[in-house]
Amino acid sequence: MSHPGRRTTIHDLRAMKEKRQRIPMVTCYDYPTARVADETGFPAVLVGDSLGMVVHGFDSTLRVTLDMMIMHCAAVARGAKNCLIVIDLPFATYSASDLRTSLETARRAMQEGGATAVKVEGGRRMAPVVGALVASGIPVMGHIGLTPQSIHMIGGYRVQGRGTAAADRLLAAAQALEQAGAFAVVLELVPAPLAQHISSQLTIPTIGIGAGIGCDGQIQVLHDILGIYEEFMPKHSKRYTDVAGQMRLALRAYHDDVVAGRFPGPEHSFES
Ligand code: KIV
Repeated sequence: MSHPGRRTTIHDLRAMKEKRQRIPMVTCYDYPTARVADETGFPAVLVGDSLGMVVHGFDSTLRVTLDMMIMHCAAVARGAKNCLIVIDLPFATYSASDLRTSLETARRAMQEGGATAVKVEGGRRMAPVVGALVASGIPVMGHIGLTPQSIHMIGGYRVQGRGTAAADRLLAAAQALEQAGAFAVVLELVPAPLAQHISSQLTIPTIGIGAGIGCDGQIQVLHDILGIYEEFMPKHSKRYTDVAGQMRLALRAYHDDVVAGRFPGPEHSFES
């Protein structure tokens, strides 16, 4: 639940889990959508590196840079006054083998982007990064299961954690992130029973995307649920409206008005 006038904190999210209140999250990439998400009462928004695909038209998240993330996050921060603002640290800007760079990336994301938390992709191997950032006062959200920044290692956008060994590894990864100090963990493309089990084993909230109803919260990509991104519709998403269709209708009407001389009318014009 967001509290007008007071920005949601990581402690509020944990309290929501304790009270069994589901945590709704959505991605945001700009000022107007952040304003609407904030007004709607989302306790947290994610400036996801999915913006590389749905806003910039790349075929993966790998070409997203820290400067791009900071620019989008700063716009979101101007629009979202009450939400916790989580920013994705982009591909290859953080790693356990270079904690100094990881810290510098997160510093820029927070100081220049105005984020109030960061998200990193990866399981056990990310625990030292999470630990180092948390020790510097930076709230960190983990992200396991399908981790799009590792798509070339994984070999495709497919469900993760199938089979006993893989399921055990995923649970161990979630626990390692919790122990390192993460305040929440995203579970992406994980079988629903496994996601529910992981959620029951953690004290921090799990935020699912393609991970079933048993997670503590859910996140979706804004452009998928609004029907703005038409190239691909993931099975786990639900289209709540058809913004691209509405845009087509409106732009067609404007285009035709100009061509036919119906716009601008006297009411849109100025006397001398
Ligand atoms: O970048 C993103 O939008 C994400 C969500 C899918 C969790 O990481």
